[in-house]
Amino acid sequence: MTLNDLVLTGDQEGEIQKIVKAIEHRDYLARIGLREIGKLLFVGPPGTGKTSVARALAHDLDLPFVEVKLSMITSQYLGETAKNVEKVFEVAKRLSPCILFMDEFDFVAKTRSSDEHAAIKRAVNTLLKSIDEISLIQDEVLLIGATNHPDQLDAAAWRRFDEIVNFPKPDRDMRADILRIVTREMDILDFEPTKLADMTEGLTGSDLRLVLREAVLEALTEERTTLTQQDLEDAIVDFEERDNLKNMDMIDGDHDALVAGGDFSDEADAASDGGHSHGHDH
Ligand SMILES: Nc1ncnc2c1ncn2[C@@H]1O[C@H](COP(=O)(O)OP(=O)(O)OP(=O)(O)O)[C@@H](O)[C@H]1O
Ligand SMILES: [Mg+2]
Repeated sequence: MTLNDLVLTGDQEGEIQKIVKAIEHRDYLARIGLREIGKLLFVGPPGTGKTSVARALAHDLDLPFVEVKLSMITSQYLGETAKNVEKVFEVAKRLSPCILFMDEFDFVAKTRSSDEHAAIKRAVNTLLKSIDEISLIQDEVLLIGATNHPDQLDAAAWRRFDEIVNFPKPDRDMRADILRIVTREMDILDFEPTKLADMTEGLTGSDLRLVLREAVLEALTEERTTLTQQDLEDAIVDFEERDNLKNMDMIDGDHDALVAGGDFSDEADAASDGGHSHGHDH
């Protein structure tokens, strides 16, 4: 996937331009002493293109892409975690010039607040120190962090990124553009992307891809490889029904958690404050 396959906000395009320029003029930036450049934090809900943009950037700049989820390097043997963090940064430096993508960045904050175990503290400190010590200008490693929960990141982690890039859910025009791009290779009769965009308020790029996939598979069950606008509209309705099921499941899940033990009662209360009246009988 390249950046041309992705629909970006003006803000996202601007940030990417800046990074591309910084890489291009690395020597100049080093000469004037600007070393604190090249650490981005992508912030936004699931399915809004954070991973895709990082990958596409690596592709378009022809750089190796090193991807780590923080949950992956958190060892059950907590003492190993700090070592894993160090290894990740070593690998990135060895592969440089490259992009180091650290997903689930909020995982740091979560583990830190839930458990003040010494080994976890050490791992977090190692991570913060490693981030401090890595530089796009000196080491040719572009660090991109990503999180769905910026509110859970503490100030110490937040402060280390020089640019925060927002990944909002796509607006109407973006949704229409995403639909146009995703369907580029498909045959669709009476295709009306703006009408579909009107019907898909609140859906992410990843949701739109799912809708398209459903429509294609539905049509295939009728041996059709040419879709119609109606196929897509039906798939949107199906998707919304699926989405409703998902929300129902969550409420029941909270309910089970309440019955099985008291541990989740705070979360369940918070969830039912969100306007769900169902299933809250404690
Ligand atoms: N703005 C967009 N333009 C085009 N495609 C998009 C866009 N946003 C998401 N997609 C598509 O949705 C799918 C999921 O996106 P991606 O995995 O990058 O989301 P994410 O933000 O990393 O989600 P998560 O937080 O769950 O990791 C990809 O196939 C991607 O191509
Ligand atoms: Mg992702």
